[in-house]
Amino acid sequence: SLQERVKEKVDCIYQRLRTHVTNIGSSTGSQRHVFFVFGASGDLAKKKIYPTLWWLYRDGFVPENTCFIGYARSQLTVEKIFQNAAKYMKVQDDEREKYEQFIKINSYVHGSYDKPEDFERLNEETNKISGQATAHRFFYLALPPSVYGSVSEMISKHCRPESPGFLRLIVEKPFGKDLESSNKLSEHLSKFYSEEELYRIDHYLGKEMVQNIIVLRFSNKIFSRVWNRDSIAAVNIIFKEDIGTQGRGGYFDEFGIIRDVIQNHLMQILSIVAMEKPRSTTGEDIRDEKVKVLRCIAPIKLEDVVIGQYIGDKDSTDPERQKGYLDDDGVPKDSRTPTYAQVVLFVNNERWDGVPFILRAGKALNEKKAEIRIQFRDVPGGMFDEELTEHGVKGTLARDELVIRVQPNEAIYLKVNTKRPGEMGFSIEETELDLTYNERYQDVKLPDAYERLILDVFTGSKINFVRSDELQEAWRIVDPILAEIDKKKVPVIPYKFGAVGLREAFAGAAMHGYIYT
Ligand code: NDP
Ligand code: BG6
Repeated sequence: SLQERVKEKVDCIYQRLRTHVTNIGSSTGSQRHVFFVFGASGDLAKKKIYPTLWWLYRDGFVPENTCFIGYARSQLTVEKIFQNAAKYMKVQDDEREKYEQFIKINSYVHGSYDKPEDFERLNEETNKISGQATAHRFFYLALPPSVYGSVSEMISKHCRPESPGFLRLIVEKPFGKDLESSNKLSEHLSKFYSEEELYRIDHYLGKEMVQNIIVLRFSNKIFSRVWNRDSIAAVNIIFKEDIGTQGRGGYFDEFGIIRDVIQNHLMQILSIVAMEKPRSTTGEDIRDEKVKVLRCIAPIKLEDVVIGQYIGDKDSTDPERQKGYLDDDGVPKDSRTPTYAQVVLFVNNERWDGVPFILRAGKALNEKKAEIRIQFRDVPGGMFDEELTEHGVKGTLARDELVIRVQPNEAIYLKVNTKRPGEMGFSIEETELDLTYNERYQDVKLPDAYERLILDVFTGSKINFVRSDELQEAWRIVDPILAEIDKKKVPVIPYKFGAVGLREAFAGAAMHGYIYT
């Protein structure tokens, strides 16, 4: 059956990848690997990084002879780290033995983020643990951005492996707070690392459906002819969450939703949706095209922005939903930080001139969802107008729309008009050509974004990491509007926890030609 064939193919690809990953370093002798988790005591380490490392280890995607070292200031033990992360690990009963083996290859070292002697000590410990000063070293900075500068400097000065060992530094977002601070961070990192050594994570680039955009666009003739301003009326890229800031208000308040989600995740998606066809599938060719398209986008104008902030829903029975953003610890009571924003961008090139790219992101809404909606232009000529009016359907045909649902429940579906089954004449119904992944590919496990990205780090693939010029362009686009919102004290529109969105945003999208079907 199709299911079996797909599964067989995927298993075969995974097996090749597994062999490739486990053999990394074997060409240079019996090379060892050390994976460091900086900020091992933190939230990201607990929820994402340690579970991901375990899943990769469990599935055989970790190079042979790898050990893991956690580092932070707290007095911790490996046992404590794994206790904290236990509920995110998803260990099955028959995996217990392997899990114990995994725990055994973990160590923890505590120390400061800025004292050379602590990093020298870490280096000595690492040599002891790995038994090899030339072991390849991967450093994951799961740390607040305030310490990126000192930690990256200390690692480069005191913890580089001896030749032929290589080093890869994985940096979490946010990469700066604005263009200036981002450039400063890039300059700082470039003093100590080559671009080759830097892996800037944007975990949306590790999601199945985001990775699928390139294949969908460039391997189907049916899309290449229509992927432009002649056929496309608007592109909507949407991120919705049904949770608030949940105690991360202190971090969030400094950034707001435009910096937290739009400048990175949504802008990355936009660049893949809008780029020209890359010369090849190599990381550099793809990133060249992404950056080219970003260069064609002018900074966002204030009239194309809607911002909002959630308030508690006093009628809700859920205590979480009763709390507004301002009730989150660490958020100043007079904060004007947006938790919801819509911005409209235009790509000023021959392919996209005049087509609005509507980027919308919000926390504390009615659902968790991320999707890309490519809306096609109206069909010219009114052949069906009479028919539609007679059946009480607005009088115009619904527009075709290609929807790529990134999460949850990954899917690609094309909204099309068809003849209403069984009826006489030409009565028209809007329906979907639907490729819902968990129906079509029931036995295929889609790896988590972090699994793919850490695997990429092991294999040295940079396709799904952000290059410094991309970052610079993304900041150039949002920077002026962030400053203007601050300077003019643009008020945030309140919305209730659990709302569908902001009416003002929907109206803005409609004004730019997006039609709600
Ligand atoms: P945490 O606030 O949990 O910080 C991680 C660790 O850093 C802490 O355990 C603490 O370790 C140390 N730390 C915290 N505050 C400071 C400080 N002011 N100065 C020095 N050290 C400090 O962060 P997260 O784990 O939530 O996030 C880490 C990075 O990942 C951040 O850049 C964040 O933006 C990013 N990120 C986080 C996500 C998440 O879901 N949490 C999602 C996506 C990105 P100790 O005191 O032991 O040294
Ligand atoms: C992070 C943001 O980058 O992405 C968070 O900082 C957000 O605010 C998260 O919640 C969403 O990620 P995902 O994978 O759950 O959609």
